Amino acid sequence: MSTASSGAKALNDWSAAQYLKFEDERTLPARDLLARVPLTSPKRVVDLGCGPANSTAVIESRYPDAELVGIDSSPDMIRKAKATLPHLDFTVEDLTSYSPSGEVDLFYSNAVFQWLKKEERFEIVKKLMASQPSGGVFALQVPDNLAEPSHVLMRETATSGPWAEKLASVGRDTFQTPQEIYDQLIPVSSQVNIFHTSYYHALENHAAIIEWVKGTGLRPFLDPLQPEEKEGFLKEYLKRLQQAYPVCADSRVLLRYPHAFLVDRVDLKEDHYKNDE
Ligand SMILES: C[S@@+](CC[C@H](N)C(=O)[O-])C[C@H]1O[C@@H](n2cnc3c(N)ncnc32)[C@H](O)[C@@H]1O
Repeated sequence: MSTASSGAKALNDWSAAQYLKFEDERTLPARDLLARVPLTSPKRVVDLGCGPANSTAVIESRYPDAELVGIDSSPDMIRKAKATLPHLDFTVEDLTSYSPSGEVDLFYSNAVFQWLKKEERFEIVKKLMASQPSGGVFALQVPDNLAEPSHVLMRETATSGPWAEKLASVGRDTFQTPQEIYDQLIPVSSQVNIFHTSYYHALENHAAIIEWVKGTGLRPFLDPLQPEEKEGFLKEYLKRLQQAYPVCADSRVLLRYPHAFLVDRVDLKEDHYKNDE
């Protein structure tokens, strides 16, 4: 286990400040996910990939008496989380190596698992579920936006400029389909609830779409580029966004943002794992 150290943001780390430019919009799915968690008074709750603690604050307001901790692999995010909610425990930890120190009634994860490799995601979910008490809950939400113009055009821009070679292997794995998720989890669950919601964010203009994705999906495309390449990439990407997103009556631009949600109730795990032996 490692803890956040103070100091400047590391190269290619997430930026809490950039991410929080759209804090209200980004926190909407966090609230909607929590509203579907069927627990009244969980004792221990972990916010997996807590970011700057915007999702942790939502959890705390619903479960003020729970022992609540947040983990995230980004030192910059954890620094901000500690500054925002100094009475809670936040640590820099990577989900791929994280193990809880005791039984956790609710694992909650908003907008994180899409960043993991496809084959790792549900191995991690199942490993963590196996450590939960029966009746515990695993709740997660991921953006389902890879087919949205914002992301299609990001990839198109990446393949059609002088930066194409540098960005050849950039991109994240598609997320599992609802049926793939269901089939993986139903053997260890008493209930698997999957739902899907699209938000329409009225952003100021097309440049605001870029500011939005700079905090998340655009990061891996920009990080490898030199300043002048970044400038060229962003100019080209903006041109494409302007063609793809019509302007609204009030001159704003509607960014459609689909999200997939999963709320899973852990079943008597011992029976299941005995069968596996
Ligand atoms: C889009 S932010 C979500 C932040 C917050 N949960 C929220 O609801 O807005 C994604 C977060 O996942 C974290 N993350 C990405 N990969 C991770 C990993 N392998 N282990 C832990 N955290 C990870 C990032 O550092 C980032 O803070």
